[in-house]
Amino acid sequence: MLQYLFLIFFVNNAVAELKRPNFVLILTDDQDVVLGGMDPMKNVQRFIGKEGITFTNSYVTSPICCPSRASLLTGMYVHNHKTVNNSLHGGCYGENWKDHEKQTFATILQEAGYDTFYAGKYLNQYGTKEAGGPEVVPPGWTEWRGLVGNSVYYNYTLSNNGVPTFSTDSYLTDVIRELGVSYIENQTESKPFLMVLAPPAPHQPFTPAPRHKDAFSNVTVVKSPNFNIIAEDKHWLLRMPPSPLPDVMLPELDQVYRSRWETLLSVDEMVADIIGALETQAFLDNTYVVFTSDNGYHIGQNSQVYDKRQPYETDIKVPLLIKGPGLKKNVENRQPVLNIDLAPTIIKLAGLDIPNNVDGRPIDVHNEDIGERNMLIEYYGEGKDGSVDKECPWKYDSGNLAQCYPQYSCKCQDAKNNTYACIRHIAERIDKKYCLFADNENFSEMYNIADDPYELENIVNHVFPAVKYWYREILTRMLTCSGAHNCDHPLEPLINIF
Ligand SMILES: *[C@@H]1O[C@H](CO)[C@@H](O)[C@H](O)[C@H]1NC(C)=O
Ligand SMILES: *[C@@H]1O[C@H](CO)[C@@H](O)[C@H](O)[C@H]1NC(C)=O
Ligand SMILES: *[C@@H]1O[C@H](CO)[C@@H](O)[C@H](O)[C@H]1NC(C)=O
Ligand SMILES: *[C@@H]1O[C@H](CO)[C@@H](O)[C@H](O)[C@H]1NC(C)=O
Ligand SMILES: *[C@@H]1O[C@H](CO)[C@@H](O)[C@H](O)[C@H]1NC(C)=O
Ligand SMILES: *[C@@H]1O[C@H](CO)[C@@H](O)[C@H](O)[C@H]1NC(C)=O
Repeated sequence: MLQYLFLIFFVNNAVAELKRPNFVLILTDDQDVVLGGMDPMKNVQRFIGKEGITFTNSYVTSPICCPSRASLLTGMYVHNHKTVNNSLHGGCYGENWKDHEKQTFATILQEAGYDTFYAGKYLNQYGTKEAGGPEVVPPGWTEWRGLVGNSVYYNYTLSNNGVPTFSTDSYLTDVIRELGVSYIENQTESKPFLMVLAPPAPHQPFTPAPRHKDAFSNVTVVKSPNFNIIAEDKHWLLRMPPSPLPDVMLPELDQVYRSRWETLLSVDEMVADIIGALETQAFLDNTYVVFTSDNGYHIGQNSQVYDKRQPYETDIKVPLLIKGPGLKKNVENRQPVLNIDLAPTIIKLAGLDIPNNVDGRPIDVHNEDIGERNMLIEYYGEGKDGSVDKECPWKYDSGNLAQCYPQYSCKCQDAKNNTYACIRHIAERIDKKYCLFADNENFSEMYNIADDPYELENIVNHVFPAVKYWYREILTRMLTCSGAHNCDHPLEPLINIF
């Protein structure tokens, strides 16, 4: 009898070993982690966080949608995939992207026999006329429901495997949830699957589902120590007036903050339903579920209005939670990770080979050591003709600024010289950031985040020149790095000089 039981156990184990895992990736749009962006996500915390790993040092290669999404899909730094901004000309579904799109974690898993599904926002220019229209189905996806253009909540077109389908009044996050549940219900044991769900929340215009409107009517914007302060020691764009923001802006910041939370409630419901469907179909134990965002967000920090695009923690740090077979439960992990690590992580967990040109490295999901890492953040500042509203007093060279509108009290959101690269350096006793701007001052900023989590004091002129030189050298090397080995070891760690 005992032998018989033993045999069953052995056979079951062998079968389990052969069974390849499924993957579900949920990617939100502009969800911060620093300003409480995860607070409304009770289901995500319960069904993914408590059942898996919460990464507390998770960053993106660029704090802007399209470049960040291109990094997530390919596992490459921005200087390698060359999607530098949200426009076609900047590589967002431009010609250059179409080459990179041939090698994403989706194409690799699909080639290895996975059934794959994408629903929701892809790259901002996907499906536009200039990018080939919604008839284009990106390689790698067996079932495709990509959103045409940027995130919205109503009045949108989804590409239904290349057939444009317009919807006026179905709340997009709910549609994505239904598609996700339906996709799971359609799966069989015969093929493993990969599913990516990319809802619009909490992106502008911050429209909650009607059932969630006013759910957080008593919530106000987080008044962090860097909220609405005069950022005297920071780069040009942040020194631009008005600073602090006029009081009339403050109710709007509250409104934006609470509306973002309200839009996230439908994502949280989606996660509960997806987990429920995985469980009902008996896939839950063999599925990795990943939750993350394409970039963070600031609301009022350093007297900026509400947006991303800045090198500070609010903008570059994102939520990342992973649960799955064999992973520890309810643990926090401080390993420094980047969104370019997700493609190689998924590829490796699927038991496949990671291509050499991937810059990220697979996350060691069983390791809790913080290790040491220099991570590169790259941002290309935007400027557009006609983006300084005529009611705003600024008389700068046209084409060098972006989004200077009266409704933002004329505070500009971006400028060509808001182009920068940063090293985010994290180790057991190190928590630093060094940034260099491509402006006509060669402006640099450095923060010791261990002592100064709100980045209040730019210490770049107070550190030993050797320290500054070391970071600048790493930055220069990383800006041309390629492949995980090269990008991970730009210089020997000089841990002893700190
Ligand atoms: C969708 O667009 C139409 C036409 O522009 C508009 O009348 C309608 O209010 C929009 N619907 C929603 C839910 O925003
Ligand atoms: C699931 O299968 C049904 C029936 O074939 C189909 O109509 C539906 O579109 C499928 N769902 C997805 C998300 O592919
Ligand atoms: C806000 O409202 C919620 C739900 O009604 C309640 O649980 C919470 O205590 C309130 N918070 C404050 C600060 O009043
Ligand atoms: C986006 O990047 C392209 C290529 O570098 C550039 O020509 C364009 O001006 C950028 N767009 C904006 C709005 O700055
Ligand atoms: C940044 O750009 C603005 C607009 O072109 C210009 O006036 C300003 O001098 C620039 N500042 C730096 C530091 O490059
Ligand atoms: C900025 O750096 C460049 C290249 O190193 C150098 O040629 C230029 O003189 C520097 N400008 C200033 C204002 O320091």
